[in-house]
Amino acid sequence: MCGIVGYIGAKEKKEILLDGLQELEYRGYDSAGIAIIENNKLKYFKAVGKLQNLRDKTKDYTSSGFGVSIGHTRWATHGKPTELNAHPHLGKFSFVVHNGIIENYQNIKDELQKEGVRFISQTDTETIVHLFEHYYAKSNDSFDSFEKSISKLDGAYATLLISEASPDTIFFAKNGSPMLIGFDGDDIYFASSDTPIIGKAKEVYYLEDGEYGYAKDGEVKLFDKDGEKSFTTKPLATDKAMAQKDGYRFFMEKEIYEQSSVMSDTMIGRVLDDRVEFEELDESFFDGIENIKICACGTSYHSALTGAYLLERVAKIPCQVEIASEFRYKEPLLRDNTLFITISQSGETADTLEALKMAKRAGLKSLSICNVDNSSIVRESDRAILTRAGIEKGVASTKAFATQTMVLWMLTLYIAQRENSITKEILAQELDAMRHTPKALKVTEKLHNKLTRLSKRYLHGHGFFFIGRDIFFPLALEGALKLKEISYLHAEGYPSGEMKHGPIALADSELFTIALMPKSLHYEKIKSNVEELSARDATILAISPEPFELADDFVQTQYSSHPMLEFFEMMVVTQLLSLEVSVRLGNDVDMPRNLAKSVTVE
Ligand code: AGP
Repeated sequence: MCGIVGYIGAKEKKEILLDGLQELEYRGYDSAGIAIIENNKLKYFKAVGKLQNLRDKTKDYTSSGFGVSIGHTRWATHGKPTELNAHPHLGKFSFVVHNGIIENYQNIKDELQKEGVRFISQTDTETIVHLFEHYYAKSNDSFDSFEKSISKLDGAYATLLISEASPDTIFFAKNGSPMLIGFDGDDIYFASSDTPIIGKAKEVYYLEDGEYGYAKDGEVKLFDKDGEKSFTTKPLATDKAMAQKDGYRFFMEKEIYEQSSVMSDTMIGRVLDDRVEFEELDESFFDGIENIKICACGTSYHSALTGAYLLERVAKIPCQVEIASEFRYKEPLLRDNTLFITISQSGETADTLEALKMAKRAGLKSLSICNVDNSSIVRESDRAILTRAGIEKGVASTKAFATQTMVLWMLTLYIAQRENSITKEILAQELDAMRHTPKALKVTEKLHNKLTRLSKRYLHGHGFFFIGRDIFFPLALEGALKLKEISYLHAEGYPSGEMKHGPIALADSELFTIALMPKSLHYEKIKSNVEELSARDATILAISPEPFELADDFVQTQYSSHPMLEFFEMMVVTQLLSLEVSVRLGNDVDMPRNLAKSVTVE
């Protein structure tokens, strides 16, 4: 995900920016850039790829006097990762960096273009700098122009702007995306999270949404809709590892909380008003395809299973899912009317990669759904759709699963559109539900506290059964895998209707059943399956919008008309439950025993 660093003062600016951006590398990016004004002269550098490329480009440049500077690592959303699309974006005499999404950028761009403004990138960000210069041409007042510019923006942003019109000033604004200001005497720093300025600034102020202002002469002037306001700084943390976790105890916890915003990244530019688009695909790619086979491991296999329900039901295309390690040696029959999809967070999982190579040798078209660009699986596939989850550090996958599932849902609609197997009305309902997904993924304090409290009752017993039907069956599998991975307690995911065919023999008060009971899909069916378990004294933790009187414990979710919204909300509940059980057991949440983040061996 994108990162911002800014500095105003007399120290060497290039190093402050590059070192700061380096600290944000772990978030993922595909290009980077810096801009500096010193002695009234603007200088900028941009490079695609790793920061080292930017370091190489700037190796002969130093900035030793007083000046202002901004830097950015970009993770492409609008437009490909090219130098032109990399930040900072240039107007005629100003530069801007920005994190977030300007939702109304196209309208602003259209208006400015009518006035003759030339845009050179495909980004939403470039509108900010042109808007600023447009107002400046009228008022000759930099702050007034900046204020007017940000008042025109809809959407999420954290932005810094520098201009030759005010060469001693950094303008800033924040709404929806994080931004903080660091202080050390007359030196002032900006960053999108703590890490770039730890060890440099001593005090910090975390900007609130709707705040904006400027830094000049060692001072910050802060404003919001009610005018100028005062603010109080606090001491800046000194522990970088802690700061990388944005204050969360574990990366996994941070990644669970992040799912809501990450999901917007997954959808941006793809979920449009009336359809789904993938710039990675063209319609002819599906010519001759009558069947889909998905191959993956672990969590990615669970998202594949979920996708198969959607693809068959909504897109009306036959779909089979295979565990990659099994697929490799089963001598599968592969027909060239089959699209071979691999799903992988890392893009390096050996079993999945080998399965892909087999399918390619058999002449199948291939598509990967992956979180890591340029990974082996992406390079090996004919086409790739990136999940845009950002770097996932917790070994137990969370946001990767959420975004893979979302991509499969989007792909389902894409194919359904192409095949005309969906009516306009149903498509509109699906798109509407998709847009509500970030909300369904929000973690509330109340929910987290409840699961922290509940977790103390689930530290023993002789096993857990996560049960569900339909798409909630793969979610049950995923819930059980999460618990196993980080609590080391035995857990199984099972289709709830299958319990009576054997596993119900295990039922007693020490068997913990986590029942996924969505109201929008087969509620009555799963309810009777859970009643059967309750009648045999199993301990039931029910997750449902509908109160369930036989539950020993109950987590209430929202009523929703679309099963996928219930799916994502329940997913968060199971993730938090596993996290809190693991914490109580004193386990290493982020690096559980015996596991590796990326399994590159057979
Ligand atoms: C997820 O929590 C696991 N760590 C694991 O099952 C993982 O999903 C599996 O190894 C596949 O990895 P991949 O998505 O990187 O291919």
